[in-house]
Amino acid sequence: MDTKGYAFITGGGSGIGKACAMLFAELGTSGILIADLNLEAAQETASEATAVASNPNFRAETVHLDVSDEESVANAVQQMVKLFGRIDYSVHCAGIPVRSYEPVSNASFPEFQDLIRVHVHGTFLVTRAVSAAMKSQEPVPVDSSSPDRGITRGSIVNLASVTADITPANMVQYNAAKHAVQGITKTAAVENGPLGTRVNCICPTWIETSMYRQTMEVIPPLNEQTAVAPIPMGRVGTAKEVAQSAIFLCSSWSSFMTGHSLVLDGGMTIM
Ligand SMILES: NC(=O)c1ccc[n+]([C@@H]2O[C@H](COP(=O)([O-])OP(=O)(O)OC[C@H]3O[C@@H](n4cnc5c(N)ncnc54)[C@H](O)[C@@H]3O)[C@@H](O)[C@H]2O)c1
Repeated sequence: MDTKGYAFITGGGSGIGKACAMLFAELGTSGILIADLNLEAAQETASEATAVASNPNFRAETVHLDVSDEESVANAVQQMVKLFGRIDYSVHCAGIPVRSYEPVSNASFPEFQDLIRVHVHGTFLVTRAVSAAMKSQEPVPVDSSSPDRGITRGSIVNLASVTADITPANMVQYNAAKHAVQGITKTAAVENGPLGTRVNCICPTWIETSMYRQTMEVIPPLNEQTAVAPIPMGRVGTAKEVAQSAIFLCSSWSSFMTGHSLVLDGGMTIM
């Protein structure tokens, strides 16, 4: 699986984004830019990734990013191009958990706005800026030994959720946000297809990260037993399992996949 290029990772200070940074480093990526609201956490990830990097020329850089802020996103993407000359992979993991568990008739508008700002405005701004950067960079062959697979300008992966397809009660703020993430991903895939830029999203169920732990504190019926009850495989996922799928979607192994929602749910949504 070829992932020798340069990766832009939002939310790389924790959870799934951090697991992606570590795995890119292990697999021989040339460089990563870890962009996070929490710069200290991003710097910690950069040191840990550098320690496990298999490419001797590997570079891990960091930048402060608020994905909900247009200027901040433009700055982070410019920084990526300035540092590495191009963006081969973009994995957008920045996000915030729900803070309440209420039916739509009683849902908080300020919280709804916060979730939409971070998840929807964030995904729109990151997908827009990265699509523009990829559009203006030189294409490379997907696989020089297989010209029939064409060229690539890059691959974009957004973190959606199983709630992009199913709609658990009392989470309108998160369900709406993740449906929108899927809509942005599919639209960008259609538009970017002719340019050789692929855009996909990942739809996980519960994944063991700090977001899962924080969510458990605010959703009264959610605990370690009830979380896994609807999952045939009987467990939550790991951040590394999501990172492995994200990197598959970045790599040439998924070169004919675009606009796809890759469900990672231990069988939850087939029931
Ligand atoms: N953990 C799960 O159960 C789960 C399930 C489905 C989908 N997801 C999605 O996966 C993504 C990653 O979640 P995670 O579990 O790794 O979360 P996490 O809380 O472990 O990490 C989120 C990271 O995003 C950063 N962040 C928050 N707001 C930001 C902002 N405005 N700008 C930039 N960075 C910001 C945080 O500082 C943190 O480093 C999110 O989009 C989440 O909704 C998570």
